[in-house]
Amino acid sequence: MKALAESAQVTDGPNDKGEMFKRPGRPSDRFPAPFPNEEAARAANGGSHPPDLSVIAKAREGGPDYIYSVLTGYKDKPGDMEMAPGMHYNTAFPGHQIAMPPPLADGVVPYTDDTEQTVDNYAKDVSAFLMWTAEPKLEQRHMLGHRVIIFLFVFAIIMFLAKKAVWKRVNKDHPPTEA
Ligand code: HEM
Repeated sequence: MKALAESAQVTDGPNDKGEMFKRPGRPSDRFPAPFPNEEAARAANGGSHPPDLSVIAKAREGGPDYIYSVLTGYKDKPGDMEMAPGMHYNTAFPGHQIAMPPPLADGVVPYTDDTEQTVDNYAKDVSAFLMWTAEPKLEQRHMLGHRVIIFLFVFAIIMFLAKKAVWKRVNKDHPPTEA
């Protein structure tokens, strides 16, 4: 992951001279934006702002399922639907009109094994990857959570037995009196 991040150059700074500088990326960086600012991004995308995908899986209801649905949701528009110029029909995007052209197509990226090179498989991989980038520590957190629950369970049993052992003598020496 570090090597992959280092393959991209990101803008950092300013340095002591007040200048911005480029450096190899780190896993904690956001994806480098392909456009210098929002206006340039809109100008290149028919007026729509392509979202920063670094944390999109956490920012949208449905997370990776939503991303998968958008990526595989390009269909022919229903006959009676009026589309705005430059928009594409998409079953998952709110309003069903999206400015993003279909970013995936069958066969564009080879797999190193026999996995079929389909939009469906690409969409699964991309959405799983974007879930990971949005929450890279999720699995460690889940594992720690399980260990904490197991610890609390064992601790509760020990505490219960300790309580019984401590109170046994007290109860014998001071039996409950009849009212
Ligand atoms: C595999 C690569 C890509 C993924 C996973 C992806 C994912 C997404 C997702 C999930 C959205 C919906 C965001 C939302 O709910 O607000 C979106 C929107 C958008 N994407 Fe992409 N995208 C990809 C590639 C591209 C490319 C190559 C372009 C430009 C040619 C692009 C341009 C846009 C634009 C303009 C929007 C905003 C759509 C609108 O508001 O109508 N995307 N993208």
